Amino acid sequence: MTILTFLAMLVRGGRGVLVAPHVGRRSMKMTANADSERFQNGADKYAAYLETPEGRLRSDLSFDNLQDFLPPQAKDLCALDVGCGTGAAAIRLARLGMHITVLDSSPAMLDIAKRKAEEAGVADKIVLQHGDAAQLTNLFRAASFDVILCHNVLEYLDDPIAVLCGAARSLRDSSAILSVLVRNRAGEVFKAAIQAGDLAVAESNLIAEWGQETLYGGRVRLFTPDRLQAMLNAASLAVTAERGVRVLADYLPSRISRSADYERIFELERKLSRRPEYAGVARYTQCVARLG
Ligand SMILES: C[S@@+](CC[C@H](N)C(=O)[O-])C[C@H]1O[C@@H](n2cnc3c(N)ncnc32)[C@H](O)[C@@H]1O
Repeated sequence: MTILTFLAMLVRGGRGVLVAPHVGRRSMKMTANADSERFQNGADKYAAYLETPEGRLRSDLSFDNLQDFLPPQAKDLCALDVGCGTGAAAIRLARLGMHITVLDSSPAMLDIAKRKAEEAGVADKIVLQHGDAAQLTNLFRAASFDVILCHNVLEYLDDPIAVLCGAARSLRDSSAILSVLVRNRAGEVFKAAIQAGDLAVAESNLIAEWGQETLYGGRVRLFTPDRLQAMLNAASLAVTAERGVRVLADYLPSRISRSADYERIFELERKLSRRPEYAGVARYTQCVARLG
């Protein structure tokens, strides 16, 4: 047991959810920026987005991809969800019997994650940790997790490679996996052209380093699959699989109901996700990596 886990147990929250103390608060204040504001003030908006067909597809497809790489006996494995948001992925891992630490810099997100874990009846499997992803090496012992998720977080970080290095250090051994999901630049080109009909933005997105966040406003870092792979390699991680998430669901005509046809859309997206020629233009790129 680490000293942090011990301290966390001292401040056990309601109905079995463990709440870690606000460690790293001083360093978080120093790195506080517009990103922390948007996730603090926009937590409810984000939770609502995850209930939309688009939000559900992103969560369901990325979790489906992840499951291909989880060991058959996932029960009792230890997982870390970096930038857990509302805890949706952690709850799914907990339902598989895993023990999950969820880390987020937004107390509002952690409050939602705590409530949802309680509602799902898996609160005893989830430890909430308030802190900055940039502090992974200070927050967790080396080699302590079998599975680490970092889904839609690198887009908002000053130094994504440093965070990937911290995640790599926290992986238990060469069989442990890191799942990373990021905004794909090619998807921004398609979105601007097909959804907004804005050819000028579509063209500028071809080389853009940053995109515009529609949910909260503000900028979001864009990745190419090659760039993500290079970042993972720089963190001593080798990519086991690369998938695309949401290839064409965002551009379907309105006569197709996103809700009524959800299962069919999901099944089609699932197939597209695994084919590199389609995955390359998806809205998101997901890589599963192991220590190289
Ligand atoms: C777009 S949400 C993704 C949430 C979740 N991973 C998911 O897939 O639904 C990004 C999350 O990362 C968190 N976050 C952003 N910067 C962070 C940082 N430096 N350290 C820890 N969490 C951070 C935000 O508070 C937010 O909950």
